Amino acid sequence: MEGLTLDTLVSLAKRRGFVYPGSEIYGGLAGTFDYGPMGVALKKNIEQLWWNRFVATRDDMYGLDSSIIMPEAVWKASGHLEGFTDPMVECEKCKHRFRADHVEGEKCPDCGGKLSAARQFNLLFPVEMGAASGGTTTGYLRGEIAQGMFVNFKNVIDSFHPKLPFGLAQSGKAFRNEIAPREFLFRVREFDLMEFEYFIRPDMWEERFEYWRKEMWAWIEEVGIDKEKVHELEVSADDRAHYSKRTIDFEFDFPFGRKELYGLAYRTDYDLSRHGEASKENLTYLDEETKEKFVPHVIEPTFGLGRTVLAVLASAYREDELGGEKRVYLALPPAVAPVKAMVSPLLKNKPELVAKAREVREMLRKVNPAIAWDDNGNIGKRYRRQDEIGTPYCVTIDFDTLEDNTVTVRDRDTGEQKRVAIADLSSTLF
Ligand code: GLY
Repeated sequence: MEGLTLDTLVSLAKRRGFVYPGSEIYGGLAGTFDYGPMGVALKKNIEQLWWNRFVATRDDMYGLDSSIIMPEAVWKASGHLEGFTDPMVECEKCKHRFRADHVEGEKCPDCGGKLSAARQFNLLFPVEMGAASGGTTTGYLRGEIAQGMFVNFKNVIDSFHPKLPFGLAQSGKAFRNEIAPREFLFRVREFDLMEFEYFIRPDMWEERFEYWRKEMWAWIEEVGIDKEKVHELEVSADDRAHYSKRTIDFEFDFPFGRKELYGLAYRTDYDLSRHGEASKENLTYLDEETKEKFVPHVIEPTFGLGRTVLAVLASAYREDELGGEKRVYLALPPAVAPVKAMVSPLLKNKPELVAKAREVREMLRKVNPAIAWDDNGNIGKRYRRQDEIGTPYCVTIDFDTLEDNTVTVRDRDTGEQKRVAIADLSSTLF
């Protein structure tokens, strides 16, 4: 919808239980958000769709779920201890900190005080491990999930002997000590990523880069992100991450501006070579046919899961008029909608309607568990509630149902209703 504001999305997210501010009863914790009952369902559906598309249905992809805490050695070898930084300035008066590239001039935007010279601020979160008496060991919450794939490269090679090209994939939490978290789910300190490292022979890189670029567009369409609002940006050498030789950002027109949604990077053999040197493990690949031994190169598509949730919500948000009344609905693809269908007895004080509706719901739940029940208020209000969370269909059991075993099925987007035999309901809905 044109003119959609972030405030509108934030308030829908809160009202309908998608996303709440983190630790809100204590005033909130900057850069953290908690997913509510609808948000967690949406997020898990997106993650599952991603996993099915890029991992489960492919023979060349191997899934992982690696640890969040990793030792300092990993981050030293990966270059993050040195290079994973943002320039920071601090106000000499109020001590507030800002990203140097987010403020203009030399005055503090909050109090007008003088800002310090910029210094590099490392985004990794250290964690002290072990009892203090024997001295603690410093580990780090992972700043990117990619390193879990590089440190397990040898394990997967040893267990499965995959042939190049192949990928290691995972989704999970990453942590960045952002100087200035902002824009809702966009820039946060704790977030979810989905990504894979696709290992190739060096001479394949351009061809595979193109292949994954197209696949990322196919994903954008499948998950329900408005393609018209997505734009590729060739990232300049100065702006690329320290490990990348080429990066394309997929930017999305968020309500607060055009910002990075996904990234596609050619990481060369940078990570495996560095980990091979630092760990003294053999991280080469042996081509059985040519007997050639080399360190594979890597193409890396990265998908922010929270940013996907935000882009999917922004793409799905609609306001229209139905039956002379204004309404809000989310035109979510059924595969990601938190609730697939809502079942409802027309009147909640008629036991025969309630019993029949319960029977229908249980029948549908055997096919898909995400079937809601709502018998509160009048039927129009029930429809509106489901519209706001993007439920594709509402099924109503009325007195005709008791006579002829048909129900009404209401379509979210058009508001139109049709009668469907209970026997055909599952094939109509799913
Ligand atoms: N692995 C790339 C990123 O986390 O941005």
